[in-house]
Amino acid sequence: MAKIPTMFSLRHLLVLSLALNVSLVLRIVYESEQGCKLFWLKKLIGTSMAGDDSERETHIVQRARLSVSNFSTRSGDHEGGERVINLDHGDPTMYEIFWRQMGDKTTITIPGWQSMSYFSDITNICWFLEPEFAKEVVRLHKVVGNAVTEGRYIVVGTGSSQLFLAALYALSPHDAAQPKSVVSAAPYYSSYPSMTDYQKSGLYRWAGDAQSFDKDEPYIELVTSPNNPDGYVRRSVVNRTEGALVHDLAYYWPQYTPISSPADHELMLFTVSKSTGHAGMRIGWALVKDQEVAKKMTKFIELNTIGVSKDSQLRAANVLKAVSDSCGREGSFEEGESFFNFGHNVLAERWKQLRAAVQQSGMFSLPNFSPAFCTFFSQVLEAQPAFVWLKCEQGIEDCESFLRRHKILTRGGKHFGVTPDYVRISMLDRDENFNLFINRLKAIEG
Ligand SMILES: Cc1ncc(COP(=O)(O)O)c(C=O)c1O
Repeated sequence: MAKIPTMFSLRHLLVLSLALNVSLVLRIVYESEQGCKLFWLKKLIGTSMAGDDSERETHIVQRARLSVSNFSTRSGDHEGGERVINLDHGDPTMYEIFWRQMGDKTTITIPGWQSMSYFSDITNICWFLEPEFAKEVVRLHKVVGNAVTEGRYIVVGTGSSQLFLAALYALSPHDAAQPKSVVSAAPYYSSYPSMTDYQKSGLYRWAGDAQSFDKDEPYIELVTSPNNPDGYVRRSVVNRTEGALVHDLAYYWPQYTPISSPADHELMLFTVSKSTGHAGMRIGWALVKDQEVAKKMTKFIELNTIGVSKDSQLRAANVLKAVSDSCGREGSFEEGESFFNFGHNVLAERWKQLRAAVQQSGMFSLPNFSPAFCTFFSQVLEAQPAFVWLKCEQGIEDCESFLRRHKILTRGGKHFGVTPDYVRISMLDRDENFNLFINRLKAIEG
């Protein structure tokens, strides 16, 4: 009688331990489905490959990412057959996986007594610029080699959107008889016209496509490079002496385009929204050559929002630091993948899938990019923009409506100053939506 419970409990212990292991594995699969996909996969693969060389590691990471994509496609399909996919905005949620993997490396704690003053550094022209943020901006541009920072004033903004308005304010004379014309070559970023005109400023006004601007008067030209929506590298097109240039370099980062040389323009705009994917932080920065322009931009932000959130600047400083730190190491699971390597690999895979889907469908065409040497990756690479500039072929005149009927929301060509047979589609959404988009595209037939 005494032996039975002992035998019984030993067996039960074994069964219980087996059950626990099975439930752990199921839990991991479940967690994968909930969004920690790559993280868990890397953990699983990582334990079985300690000591492998980094080339193989990179290969396995890519395979892991691919299998994650395929997994997402399946789960997306059976839950999302009728779901509308919204790829109208350039919401950079693709980067969540990377930042999840980074765990607490970018977590900051801000005690209640900190960041209370309006002021950050009263010796700086931009008196609300947090020194730690400014330091990390300079460091990141050095690491990436995408912009000259020496001899530049840094002005921080609530997103580069606020800096865009600050630049228009600073570059327009306040005593002119007429508002200054603001132009950009079509297809231009769809927000430029409305951002320029929504307040009906007496200082500046939207004057349309830079290519048809023929007025003999001062103007501001917005040069977006690489361009939103089409991804091409751009230069100014008006080229007259009385023009002021604003270079919007939101996408001049190695995951999107080969870095050819450090950009060296009068007024350059950058944003964490597209560089690191932290659009919700609302932080951008301007690199400005002219002191008076930097002062006026600072004045605009002072009048507009009395500075820029210190909390966001401190968080942004931490994120930029993590990106710069990650650039020194490549591939190892323990140490983490470099941020730009991650972004570049995901976009390379997505563009490959996209080109295959477009070819299979036969209904659309895509831009082609000439390969160029990238000083950051030390390789000849092709651009892989944050947006697809897709053209509907076969007589489809309204591409946005056409794709809406296939439950894909995009932004039509007219918003960018061109014909409606073009649409812009975000490439920066989460895996699940991207895969659903590719499957829908493949299924569209002529
Ligand atoms: C070319 C360009 N400039 C500026 C912005 C706005 O950036 P932010 O989020 O920093 O205001 C965007 C956002 O899509 C953009 O595409």
